[in-house]
Amino acid sequence: MVKSPGLKKINTAVFISGNGSNLKNLIKFSLKKKSKLKISLVVSNKYNAKGIIYANRYKIKKKIINYKNIELAEKEILINLNKYKIKLICLAGFMKIISKKFIKKFDGKIVNIHPSLLPKYKGLNTHIRVINNKEKFSGCTVHYVNSNLDSGKIIIQKKIKIKKNDNAKSLAKRVLKEEHILYPKALVKILSNL
Ligand code: GRF
Repeated sequence: MVKSPGLKKINTAVFISGNGSNLKNLIKFSLKKKSKLKISLVVSNKYNAKGIIYANRYKIKKKIINYKNIELAEKEILINLNKYKIKLICLAGFMKIISKKFIKKFDGKIVNIHPSLLPKYKGLNTHIRVINNKEKFSGCTVHYVNSNLDSGKIIIQKKIKIKKNDNAKSLAKRVLKEEHILYPKALVKILSNL
């Protein structure tokens, strides 16, 4: 691979729990010549998260964390973040709450993608709630993580129109497609300041 001279890559960890389509997409983005993103570690709280296949496929270090005890889990994560000199954490479908203590250690260095137009529809099951409330628009948001769920500073958002015959499934599919465009865009913004 040809390296761009002077391009400082930022060691990043991606945290997942599920399918990992955002992880796959971020890996692809990181492989672009001018991308400052370097995914050095994938963290999963589930040994059978589908997304782990992408860590394997692209030979990225992975760490599966047992979350029976959150304090021990986070300690183990921190050890690994130090080991791989991680400077940025991207949450991508990570289903565990991150403690205040942990956030303090990585203050301003944790970002998340959420499938709604925050501050609306924080938390789980966004699409079904959006449909049930007969909203006209939905979308996705990339935001910094603070100690309140889905409440950190918004980095970037994409709004989409809800179609007449949309249901939670069709909406989720269209929003996810937008997420794959939005997350790299957000990272371009963030990484240029790191
Ligand atoms: C995405 O919709 C993301 O916004 C939400 O969880 C989902 C993860 O999807 N936080 P994937 O695992 O990246 O495919």
